[in-house]
Amino acid sequence: MIAPWRYSGIKRIPWSEFTTFGPNPGVFTESEQFRILGERHRAYDREIGLMANDTHQDVITDTGQPPVFEEARDPVTRRAFIKSVIATGAVASTGGLMLVGLSGCSDEATQAAGSVERLVTLNVNGKSRPVDVLPNETLAMTLRYKLGLTGTKLACDRGECGACTVLVDDVTHNSCSTLTHSVRGRDVTTVEGLEQPDGTLHPVQQAMIDELGPQCGFCTPGQVMSGVALLKNNPNPSREEARQGLAGNLCRCGAYDHYLNSIMRAARVS
Ligand code: FES
Ligand code: FES
Repeated sequence: MIAPWRYSGIKRIPWSEFTTFGPNPGVFTESEQFRILGERHRAYDREIGLMANDTHQDVITDTGQPPVFEEARDPVTRRAFIKSVIATGAVASTGGLMLVGLSGCSDEATQAAGSVERLVTLNVNGKSRPVDVLPNETLAMTLRYKLGLTGTKLACDRGECGACTVLVDDVTHNSCSTLTHSVRGRDVTTVEGLEQPDGTLHPVQQAMIDELGPQCGFCTPGQVMSGVALLKNNPNPSREEARQGLAGNLCRCGAYDHYLNSIMRAARVS
């Protein structure tokens, strides 16, 4: 299991530092980039007590609970770390400051000024989903690693590619750049929520199949969600309007015309 908070925005190391598009293009080979990035992540994880000093293993078990030796091994434990995150969280709503039942995190019903409620209920695909959310957690992380909705893809993780597109109140959002706490009380729709209960696909999904839209398919969920949002607002778009509607959804395979054909077909049949 991946420890989700390693990727949840806490002192993250920007990829731009290593990629060929970054400030030092061509300095590192790809394998060097991964080695350096890995070493820096591990050093940070050891610093905050999420990784044992003498291994490359995260301090977490498959049940999501820290192993029993954690507190004895390191004074900066996961428990203490999460407590400090809660106490210093300064984002999202401060309206509900209940620290109720933070499983594995808090023994006391104490409440720190400026903290944020972590146990929240999200409306996702028409269902109420209770979930424990860190103050700085992105919606993409919550959807993929806490709610198991892996149809939403993570690629750039910085709002550039559209792979993580979901609908929030029927408006497209890059979920990698949206704080989960900011969507409380709003309707979130992911690609998993488009299919009818009887298995009938959304017209955009069906059109993607009929037009052989995807190549590798990694960008497809984002393209689908943008197409769905477009047709909700403009059921009969021109090809140029469809192109505008999908703008921001990058496709490394270059299947843009296939996706446009799919949207135009979906508009015709729906
Ligand atoms: S992963 Fe969110 S925009 Fe690229
Ligand atoms: S189909 Fe491969 S990235 Fe779009």
